[in-house]
Amino acid sequence: MMNSMGTLLAIVVTLLGLAIDGYHCKVVQFIFGDSLSDVGNNNYLSKSLAKANLPWYGIDFGTGLPNGRFSNGRTVADIIGDQMGLPRPPAFLDQSLTEDVILDNGVNYASGGGGILNETGGLFIQRLSLYKQIELFQGTQELIKARIGEAEAEKFFQNSRYVVALGSNDFINNYLMPIYSDSWTYTQQGFITYIMETLQAQLTLLHRLGARKLMVFGLGPMGCIPLQRVLSTSGECQEKTNKLALSFNQAASNLVNQLSSKLPNASFQFGDAYDVVNDVIINPYKYGFNNSDSPCCSFGKIRPALTCIPASTLCKDRSKYVFWDEYHPSDKANELIANELIRKLGFVSDNNTNAPSPAPAIAPSSVG
Ligand SMILES: *[C@@H]1O[C@H](CO)[C@@H](O)[C@H](O)[C@H]1NC(C)=O
Ligand SMILES: *[C@@H]1O[C@H](CO)[C@@H](O)[C@H](O)[C@H]1NC(C)=O
Ligand SMILES: *[C@@H]1O[C@H](CO)[C@@H](O)[C@H](O)[C@H]1NC(C)=O
Ligand SMILES: *[C@@H]1O[C@H](CO)[C@@H](O)[C@H](O)[C@H]1NC(C)=O
Repeated sequence: MMNSMGTLLAIVVTLLGLAIDGYHCKVVQFIFGDSLSDVGNNNYLSKSLAKANLPWYGIDFGTGLPNGRFSNGRTVADIIGDQMGLPRPPAFLDQSLTEDVILDNGVNYASGGGGILNETGGLFIQRLSLYKQIELFQGTQELIKARIGEAEAEKFFQNSRYVVALGSNDFINNYLMPIYSDSWTYTQQGFITYIMETLQAQLTLLHRLGARKLMVFGLGPMGCIPLQRVLSTSGECQEKTNKLALSFNQAASNLVNQLSSKLPNASFQFGDAYDVVNDVIINPYKYGFNNSDSPCCSFGKIRPALTCIPASTLCKDRSKYVFWDEYHPSDKANELIANELIRKLGFVSDNNTNAPSPAPAIAPSSVG
């Protein structure tokens, strides 16, 4: 009798608590990134030269039509979010984005061509740099505050998960291209320091805006993307570019650990999949791939084509290629990268805090 009364009391108190608490917010993600995480923002940038809006992008995702992802299928952030039981956040520039959609799904600000540095990717004319993405996030915060109030909004943003995944373009579409002044202004070490100072200010700003659980993804062996291989007659990986990725990862790892222990209540994590991707590139068969040096979607010898285009030829089996186009990994490679990051970061699933979200249909990534 006492027991059931106690239980009843507890339930009533809990219900009252919820009622007083008002809005019960879900755990959602806010994603900051480049083309490796873009889910459609660049399609809304009318002047951007970096868009995944033509076939055969998205061929193994949902309906198979281009959806803004620079891959045949899912991004690494898609796969990790799915594993954590979190909804996939829509693109910030998606016309149907409302406060309710944001509260239920979060937002993805990632933009192809974007970098940690403002000047990165200038050749693409339009892209959202990390600072710009954070500025847009601040706008999102104002909308949510107006919708659910200051106190609830603060809780919502502190409980959310944050992903920051940029850096490749700061090298590939900045430092390593002589038309960008950074390439002749900085030594390699000086450039890494400049990026880290910028990233430190950005991560600190995100923390001030409420980010507590945040992960930073490192770089892969970007000297081995098909676009870099064509720079040498032998088609080898560009070792100089790979060394830059390793230096970036080392410095970013230190920075993130340092910030995580310094900033109040911060749980900031760094993870990269450099080693495993490097091993896949050297031993593709070991991992079930057949090709690790050329893009599945390719426009013959006319390279580097900026993107995969309708006139390109597709490889026979997309699940056997590490690279989808000149820059970007295939769905299958992204799955491998995501699994490595999940393993390294020791993710705890959020499956218990969220109702399961309907997973977008994903077609098998093979047409045989
Ligand atoms: C979380 O849920 C998703 C789908 O809702 C599932 O694919 C994933 O395996 C789950 N993860 C864990 C660790 O239970
Ligand atoms: C970078 O761009 C943001 C706007 O997106 C601007 O506020 C900031 O001052 C810029 N920073 C530098 C160093 O140019
Ligand atoms: C850190 O967490 C504690 C306990 O939840 C809270 O009281 C405090 O306000 C938090 N501090 C910051 C800066 O978020
Ligand atoms: C992959 O390569 C192996 C060995 O070269 C070959 O037997 C197999 O047919 C290839 N598979 C595909 C789908 O290309």
